[in-house]
Amino acid sequence: MKRIKFGDVRLSKNAEDNLLTAVKNNWITSGPFVKEFEKKWGELFDYKYNIMVNSGTGADIVACKSLFDLNAKRSLNLSDNEIIAPALAFVAVGTAIVDAGFKPVFVDIKRETLNIDPDKIEDKITPKTRAILAVHTMGRPCEMDKIMEIARKHNLYVIEDSCEAHGAKYKGKFIGNWGDMATFSFYSAHLICSGEGGVVSTNNERIAYFLASIKNHGRKPNDIYFQHDRIGGNYKMNDMEAAIGVAAIQDFWETFRIRRENVNYLIEKTKDLQKYAYFNLEDAGNENCGHAFSVTLKDPKYNLSKLYSFLEQNGIECKRNFGSMPTQHKAFEFLGHKLGEFPESEYVGDNGLHFGIHRYLSRDDLDYASEKLHEYFNNI
Ligand SMILES: Cc1ncc(COP(=O)(O)O)c(C=O)c1O
Repeated sequence: MKRIKFGDVRLSKNAEDNLLTAVKNNWITSGPFVKEFEKKWGELFDYKYNIMVNSGTGADIVACKSLFDLNAKRSLNLSDNEIIAPALAFVAVGTAIVDAGFKPVFVDIKRETLNIDPDKIEDKITPKTRAILAVHTMGRPCEMDKIMEIARKHNLYVIEDSCEAHGAKYKGKFIGNWGDMATFSFYSAHLICSGEGGVVSTNNERIAYFLASIKNHGRKPNDIYFQHDRIGGNYKMNDMEAAIGVAAIQDFWETFRIRRENVNYLIEKTKDLQKYAYFNLEDAGNENCGHAFSVTLKDPKYNLSKLYSFLEQNGIECKRNFGSMPTQHKAFEFLGHKLGEFPESEYVGDNGLHFGIHRYLSRDDLDYASEKLHEYFNNI
């Protein structure tokens, strides 16, 4: 009965043809389609070097691991190297940092933007900090000028997790071109889908070399086989995934336009409800990516679990606004944080949800979503 699903993928004829070619090539691990995908992806946003990997999570892990070639020292102790990250984001952000061998040092977010609060970053910087991992949550760019200023002042690298923000712009410049590396996901809910998949993009040739080596077991490229210079892993994308992904590039800007229009249409239709909730608005001078439609209640009395059930019962598939990784997810209990340390993230974790805004929704569907939101809020 679901009327508004979180994502909806339809393979084009091109994708089907590519897939068949990849299979018939008998070269289904990383091959020509991966190379083509890397080139065409880079051309979309002016990213010079693009390293396709197996997922957005893999992209975050590979990006973090490259710090061991840049400014981090290998150690058996996680806490010898720290990466600053927002307390609230999709959980892959925190787990990737730990998987890569770092201690995540969480910083609270801003409730209205869902992004890291730059004014709270400097207090968390220590001699062990190696990077800031900024996440453009729900397609809304972080305050990159402030983040870059802090990073430069403290000599830190910046990784932009852009998994929810393909094609977004901050102050006229594509996200991903602000920091040292940007990571993306090609999972089905995102603007380009390759089944599973991801990429790390960078404009720095030296970093690109490390990333390419890490995704392939830390190999030394162009040397005798089985010569490993660093701790890497198998994060490779296969050619069947790239065959699908590369076809989606052809209508990326069409997808981008439609999804942005969908979010903006719904924001316009629900303007009168902004007294009840924060929606994912666009800041002046920026261009958001239409990742999802986010609703964070302005007062807990508007009751998130009731809203969640109401929307679900009416065919709108909902997801919680992630929650605070350090204090609302058992997975991070070992870090020893206490509930109350990240009040904004915890508030959003308790009072926010989002639903899909994919390109196959009709105006009717969007009108329906607006109608249901009005029905809920006008009856509380
Ligand atoms: C911010 C963020 N980072 C990382 C990921 C992980 O991507 P994947 O699901 O491709 O592993 C996601 C996935 O949605 C995400 O939203």
